[in-house]
Amino acid sequence: MIEKNRSLEALFAPAEFTALKGRDLRETVCVVFDVLRATSTMVTALANGAVAAIPVEEIAEALALRKRQPELLLAGERNGVRIEANLTGSIAFDLGNSPREFTRERVGGRMMVITTTNGTRALRACTQAKRVLIGSFLNLRATAEFVEREGSDQLLLVCSGTHDETAYEDVLAAGALCDLIWPRWNGSTIADSAQMARRLYRLEQEDLPAAFGRSRNGRRLLGLPDLREDVAYCAQRDVLDLVAELREDGKVRVIEVN
Ligand code: MLT
Repeated sequence: MIEKNRSLEALFAPAEFTALKGRDLRETVCVVFDVLRATSTMVTALANGAVAAIPVEEIAEALALRKRQPELLLAGERNGVRIEANLTGSIAFDLGNSPREFTRERVGGRMMVITTTNGTRALRACTQAKRVLIGSFLNLRATAEFVEREGSDQLLLVCSGTHDETAYEDVLAAGALCDLIWPRWNGSTIADSAQMARRLYRLEQEDLPAAFGRSRNGRRLLGLPDLREDVAYCAQRDVLDLVAELREDGKVRVIEVN
């Protein structure tokens, strides 16, 4: 029997973010994936002791925040690379969007504001949700276990995409999370999108780095000598035992789970 009040769904395309803003998400837990690379970067920064990350959509918002709080680190990318003075009209950002830059030395004890092409937009589109979790392969199991414990009946997996397109690696991560929690959802209202994501993940699960390399963003990163190692880094499974969420105050922080 289908339980009408429960739903497990994935959103694949950035065009769907706009509709999300008008949807009632008050009972919904969203998990946002921008595996290459924004959400992988945020969880890495938090694991390395960053206090919080403030995701914003526009460069101007990041600059305005920094003006009010000069201690903030500026992080983010446009066209995949660190935002330089030619885009801000004034200063260069401190960090780009490569998770490997967010070391303990660079970010430990610091708060940052981050703007990226898709990931931060996807996060901001979910702000009305009951909870907004930061998903990646790096912290997938910890996030899935938290979702299970939280026991929400409305789970929405938001794939941030690449520019205007669906991103293969985000759908794989959404599918991997579905795979971990599938038994609890058996018989519930499982959207076809969640089934598609899970099936794709099961096809690719044996070699995630190779699968990432077939994606549009993966191919682009692999072609850039300074960034190519990001692909293998972000394809690692369960190396970070942390759950992170976007709070009502607009900051991404670690959730303390016992
Ligand atoms: C994004 O937010 O669109 C991505 O994280 C892009 C990137 O790889 O830097």
